[in-house]
Amino acid sequence: MSAKIRLDAQNLGAVINRNIYGHFSEHLGRCIYGGLFVGEDSPIPNKKGMRTDVVEALKHIKVPVLRWPGGCFADEYHWEDGIGPKETRKRMVNTHWGGVVEDNSFGTHEFLELCEQIGCEPYINGNVGSGTVKEMSEWVEYLNSPGDSTVAQRRWANGRKEPWNVKYWGVGNENWGCGGNMRPEYYGDLYRRFNTYCRNYTKEHPLYRIACGPNVNDWEWMDGVMKVVGRYCDAITLHYYTHPRGWEEKGSATEFDTDEYYLTLRKAAYMEELIKGHTAIMDKYDPKHKVGLIVDEWGTWFTVEPGTNPGFLYQQNTMRDAMVAAINLNIFNNHADRVVMANLAQMVNVLQSVILTDGDQMLLTPTYHVFDLYKAHHDATLLPTEVECPVSGGMNSITVSASVKENVITVTAANLDCENAQQVTLDIANCDVQKVTARILTGEMHEKNTFEDKENVKIAEFTDFAVENGCVVMNLPACCVVEVTING
Ligand code: AHR
Repeated sequence: MSAKIRLDAQNLGAVINRNIYGHFSEHLGRCIYGGLFVGEDSPIPNKKGMRTDVVEALKHIKVPVLRWPGGCFADEYHWEDGIGPKETRKRMVNTHWGGVVEDNSFGTHEFLELCEQIGCEPYINGNVGSGTVKEMSEWVEYLNSPGDSTVAQRRWANGRKEPWNVKYWGVGNENWGCGGNMRPEYYGDLYRRFNTYCRNYTKEHPLYRIACGPNVNDWEWMDGVMKVVGRYCDAITLHYYTHPRGWEEKGSATEFDTDEYYLTLRKAAYMEELIKGHTAIMDKYDPKHKVGLIVDEWGTWFTVEPGTNPGFLYQQNTMRDAMVAAINLNIFNNHADRVVMANLAQMVNVLQSVILTDGDQMLLTPTYHVFDLYKAHHDATLLPTEVECPVSGGMNSITVSASVKENVITVTAANLDCENAQQVTLDIANCDVQKVTARILTGEMHEKNTFEDKENVKIAEFTDFAVENGCVVMNLPACCVVEVTING
């Protein structure tokens, strides 16, 4: 098999917003509790309750932004339950996720501490479904007001004098479903009302206002909401999960055949159609692309691991997940003119995580390594690509995106064919190829990392390429993701 990728070093596209490499953490299963936060008294090494091993791993992939506290949990969350002395914090039932008692020991201050340790921007999702305008308005004030209002003084009393100036604010989550089962017109009006009272406390730190967008291909929701809120928001969201079989019987994370492998990848590639379709609707109301599209929930959603709580959404992660990540991240890069942020669901121990933990043990999933391979794209300038490749399993066998930053070109590509290697020629116009280095993640499609063998799948240096007539000719093994760095 052979394929060709063409790009032009002087044909510059949009800047790839680093926030495309964002993550999502919800009060769900073991994402927060056990995964990110263990509490200061835990024997697991931690700083102010945050797991040191997990934080260090997240710093390595340069997580730019983290969304919290949900998800469906966001529209049931009342922020005042999660501040002040831990002993007096309210205990609530997490009705969406396993019916467990949420003791609110991880709240606003803890989330901001976590973001500071990781070095990422916080993205807070407010409660529209069961919250009030006053509640959300005061949450913004609590976090961002530099003054000495009573609300700001509560923040001081809880140990934080300086405002955090949180920029990213989501006004509700999935308000077409778990966030209130609303109609687009009704949500649109509610958005306008909530948004009015979310104040900018300083000129230097205006809020970035995010409206709840559609599920998958709900074009009607996108149209209805954009019509009403397009002038009042900075961005609108899209949620799309990859379920190979369907919502009811999702399929195993680790046991699948070749047909199901390709079915999963074809479903992941559907993201491109969704982005094009929703962009066309947004263009009607926002032809100048002032409103960004944020894919703030994406990733694989399989049947939970046998023996685990069905409400905890804990799943393993294989090379198939790595392919899904490569496909999605390339699509987001290639649509950087509209996609301004994306948040993988979810960061640790839930759905397509980059990290799994078991007690004091931690492992990095194949998906983590894809985020590592793609990190040079953060804030780089897109170089549009053209691909000619064979079809495997009913889809293009190569996915690719490219960017340039400080005269260094980065190409990330995956050979999605799970059985055949292919020779891939990278033809870069207007570039005198001088030095090429590459890294690879590869393995049979079922391969994964386990707590017994944590480094079964990991990044290696890739050297099976040659520079011929100014082109980089690579021999890509089956089922692999590569990062190629070109100095020209
Ligand atoms: O990520 C799990 C759930 O999926 C989120 O809570 C919700 O927003 C979506 O339906």
